Amino acid sequence: MTETHAPLKLVVLISGRGSNLKAILEAIENGELSAVVSAVISDRNEATGLAYARERSIDTLALNAKDYPDREGFDAALLGLIDLFHPGLVVLAGYMRILSSEFVTHYAGRLINIHPSLLPEFRGLDTHRRAIEARCKTHGASVHFVTEELDGGPVVAQVRIPVLPDDTAESLSQRVLEQEHPLYVKVIQWVAESRLTLNGNTLSFDNKILEAPIQREAK
Ligand code: GRF
Repeated sequence: MTETHAPLKLVVLISGRGSNLKAILEAIENGELSAVVSAVISDRNEATGLAYARERSIDTLALNAKDYPDREGFDAALLGLIDLFHPGLVVLAGYMRILSSEFVTHYAGRLINIHPSLLPEFRGLDTHRRAIEARCKTHGASVHFVTEELDGGPVVAQVRIPVLPDDTAESLSQRVLEQEHPLYVKVIQWVAESRLTLNGNTLSFDNKILEAPIQREAK
């Protein structure tokens, strides 16, 4: 029996380029993803990704950290805006600000991120350069639920690619990015289908506890 679900309401947070946002929007358009992007919110007015949303008549908003006294104040305003859209899932897609614990707690189990490394390796920035410097044979990307620990929440799925002998941080980053897009779309679709849930710290996939990240084939 095939269950039908209402499209999952997403609010997507970005800070820049927005290629993951674009991949999500295209997957919705081609029927691969049963979701609707209710709003795209950025901490940078000039984020190029906002243009993709505007072209599609999706609500876009930008908040400026300078208008708020501290991180808590900024995140409280952000949370208030996000909740106007009643999202089923808040999607971090290249959102570069550290989130307050109040924010993370409010969206527990409904907040996901994509990170360009095979977590728990290389949390934080500059992952591609660090992977090359560490002479890693493989590198990749991970999708995880967000907790208070930076890049530390339960990892749902990963994709890995070989690091080539002549790879630079740029070439590796480009090849990982190409793999991020289908990975993120797939994980969001699992949430849309209620196949993937997080309760407390326990990930479940198809009603079974997920003991280790799902490994996806590179495309
Ligand atoms: C991606 O590499 C993502 O993994 C990381 O930030 C980058 C965002 O790229 N969190 P884009 O803005 O989606 O193009």
